[in-house]
Amino acid sequence: HDTFLLEAAARAPVIPVVTIEDPHLAAELAATLVAAGLPVVEVTLRTPRALDAIRAIAHGAPEAIVLAGTIVSPSQIGEAADAGATGIVTPGTSPRLADALAEAQIPAMPGCATVSEAMALHERGFSVLKLFPAAASGGPAWLKGIAGPLPSLRFCPTGGIDAQSAPAYLACPNVVCVGGTWVTPNALVAKGDFAAIARLAREAAALPRG
Ligand code: 3PG
Repeated sequence: HDTFLLEAAARAPVIPVVTIEDPHLAAELAATLVAAGLPVVEVTLRTPRALDAIRAIAHGAPEAIVLAGTIVSPSQIGEAADAGATGIVTPGTSPRLADALAEAQIPAMPGCATVSEAMALHERGFSVLKLFPAAASGGPAWLKGIAGPLPSLRFCPTGGIDAQSAPAYLACPNVVCVGGTWVTPNALVAKGDFAAIARLAREAAALPRG
């Protein structure tokens, strides 16, 4: 599972985090991101039609690697997998959710915000973690700090990151990619402004890694 996550993260420096109200836009949105150089997309389960959006991407833009985000309860794991998600992302990880993720058939990138949470997840067998909310939790300084004591962990920091702050995260040796909503702002997604999204995505895809 970690191999899948590491390979997916290696495909592009940024995972766009998208919140989709209208599933009819989902496949074109994902195809736009893939064409611009961002093949991995996290669809947050924060809207009533989010699972339909994942389903639409899995069928209509199969070249995209679609992850289901904002998974907060065990029952959502199977729902996301059934809809066609190939991976799970969580904002934080309760013990009950960690148990379910450890047993899940699809790879999971569980969220953490402290060293103790990261250690607990590592004990459970996870080594590719989401740091969330990254900026508020300590940003690049936190990531550099944890690299010494826990060198085998890898992170996808997300939360409060944009095109300006992303390079400092990507320069951290334990960062595999960053996530964020700045590539797909809700206003552009709602309007279906795929040209503007493609411009933001191309900029994000060109961000230098450390
Ligand atoms: C997430 O679920 O990962 C966050 O909502 C990311 O949001 P941000 O990039 O706007 O901080």
